[in-house]
Amino acid sequence: MLTENGIPFNGASAAHVNVITESINECITIADALSASRKLLAEHQENLTFNEPILEASIFVEQAFDKTSLQLITQSDAKLCDSAKKLLSTMLSKRISGVPVAYIVGHQPFWTLNLKVSEQTLIPRADSEIIVETAVSLSLVKDASILDLGTGTGAIALAIKSECPQWSVMGCDFKSEIVELANANARSNQLKVDFFLSDWFSAVPAAKRFDLIVSNPPYVEASSSWLQQGDVRFEPDSALTSGVDGLDDIRHIILRAPHFLNTAGYLLLEHGHEQAEVIQELLHEAGYKEVTTHKDLSGLDRATLGRWML
Ligand SMILES: C[S@@+](CC[C@H](N)C(=O)[O-])C[C@H]1O[C@@H](n2cnc3c(N)ncnc32)[C@H](O)[C@@H]1O
Repeated sequence: MLTENGIPFNGASAAHVNVITESINECITIADALSASRKLLAEHQENLTFNEPILEASIFVEQAFDKTSLQLITQSDAKLCDSAKKLLSTMLSKRISGVPVAYIVGHQPFWTLNLKVSEQTLIPRADSEIIVETAVSLSLVKDASILDLGTGTGAIALAIKSECPQWSVMGCDFKSEIVELANANARSNQLKVDFFLSDWFSAVPAAKRFDLIVSNPPYVEASSSWLQQGDVRFEPDSALTSGVDGLDDIRHIILRAPHFLNTAGYLLLEHGHEQAEVIQELLHEAGYKEVTTHKDLSGLDRATLGRWML
């Protein structure tokens, strides 16, 4: 069974959907809807990874009733209309069947930005903020040129641009719908980033050189059991997996990037927390210098930087 977004929607049985609809139909005020939503999400917590019933209930109630988080408190006695109750029941049913919150509400915060998401690409993760932090801490020339490969929502490119507006930032992805999504996020966040369609470096002009190339490419092993868990079940393989050992795209980027880097330019890659050693080796073998690994917010090895000195 598919949702209207085409997302597999197989967890919430018809019986569950009825319980959810009845429970929300009985609500009279916003306070009732909040409390019923929290209870329903908490009861189904075992199906959901990283489920936070209180936070998620607020997100869904805000969206269904078109209220801010402050209004949920100041207007807690406000009466509910039937169409908004129906919307809330649908959102809760999707969530209880495992659909990620971001795909249900259509957006996700990243860095200081609010980004539109789509099931064509990855939901931006807080883990990737280490790429932004590392990038903006580099001593690059004032008008540095940056490329974000596999930009998805544009999260990393847009966050870098928001911190360093004087840098010229480009981002690419290999599906036109994804490039359109990144462009929409650039417009809504009023940031000037040039997003374009490219299969890795294929559409990057041969004469173009960058001071920094960043990428959070697919890096999961194709047969990883992790792909069957939680939110990632709903994200596309094209954003997650990369061959038998998860390193096909990373190998390609490491070997091709030197053709597009200025002398002393950097390559900064996000990767799985157990891949740091092999990626350091790949960078050294390819001739990069000053190779260092950086930890994410959870203290896990998450990003590796190399410098091309030729
Ligand atoms: C792990 S996601 C990262 C998305 C985004 N940069 C982020 O951090 O949220 C990997 C991205 O690489 C893109 N991708 C996969 N294969 C690609 C290719 N051959 N050329 C360009 N982009 C590709 C996917 O579409 C996806 O958006």
